Amino acid sequence: MPEKENSSEEIIEEDSIEELENIANHDLLKNISNKYAIFAKGLVKDYEIGDFIVRAVDNISLSIENGQFLVIKGPSGAGKTSLLNLLGGLDSPNKGVIYNFGVKISNMKEESLATWRLLNSGFIFQNYNLISTLTAEENVMFPMSLSGVAFKKQRERATELLSKMSLDDRREHLPFQLSAGEQQRVAIARALANDPPMIIADEPTANLDKKTSKFIRDLFRELKNNIRTIIIATHDDFLIGLADRVITFDEGKIIKEEILSEKEI
Ligand SMILES: Nc1ncnc2c1ncn2[C@@H]1O[C@H](COP(=O)(O)OP(=O)(O)O)[C@@H](O)[C@H]1O
Ligand SMILES: [Mg+2]
Repeated sequence: MPEKENSSEEIIEEDSIEELENIANHDLLKNISNKYAIFAKGLVKDYEIGDFIVRAVDNISLSIENGQFLVIKGPSGAGKTSLLNLLGGLDSPNKGVIYNFGVKISNMKEESLATWRLLNSGFIFQNYNLISTLTAEENVMFPMSLSGVAFKKQRERATELLSKMSLDDRREHLPFQLSAGEQQRVAIARALANDPPMIIADEPTANLDKKTSKFIRDLFRELKNNIRTIIIATHDDFLIGLADRVITFDEGKIIKEEILSEKEI
């Protein structure tokens, strides 16, 4: 297996964040936006609880090429969810910079970040996070309504996506009327609704029945097309087997990195 890759170092040195910050450096930014879905440097995420500070993400530099299928594995409490939240723009780092498709998201204001997320990343949460008062279909329509898709189109696409998830007869159900596996499939349909170029999934097959886990694994195999960037935190051997690259995370740090398949960009 090839040794640790750190392709970000090829184009930018560790101490040149300031250089990166310089918006006049168009070539560098263009290079980043053409090549990398994620280009992150020196990420730190601390949580302060009373007198205690937990460093969940500890000085992480990571670049993820467009179209890469990346798996992050590691024990519970390693910081996987915290890292995914930063990469997907659901949270902001205490330190460091993140470029997502060449756009700096690490210090974006919440309102702009919400719009950015809507169009650029589909997030699949470990606990589904469906809106409890909306039906399955309305949950899938929701991100499309926010991004200005016409109502009829929203409904058509939601119907199509729920059908793809084998949930034709569950469209009118509220989340509490659905099994865990069905809720996760609705959540995946919602993540795909705006056809985002990047999908982030946090342990998507954890705590699910065998049949749904298989369904979701097959779906990710189908989604893997070297165009859409996929980032998954998981221990699922099948999903790990799909990955181009596997990062092992512990105590907020990358402790191992494996490249499983090289591809032409
Ligand atoms: N919102 C939070 N507030 C305080 N501490 C948190 C919060 N989220 C996570 N942590 C802590 O950060 C560390 C990493 O957690 P997490 O990112 O959820 O890891 P993983 O997803 O690998 O299990 C843990 O020690 C956890 O207790
Ligand atoms: Mg987690």
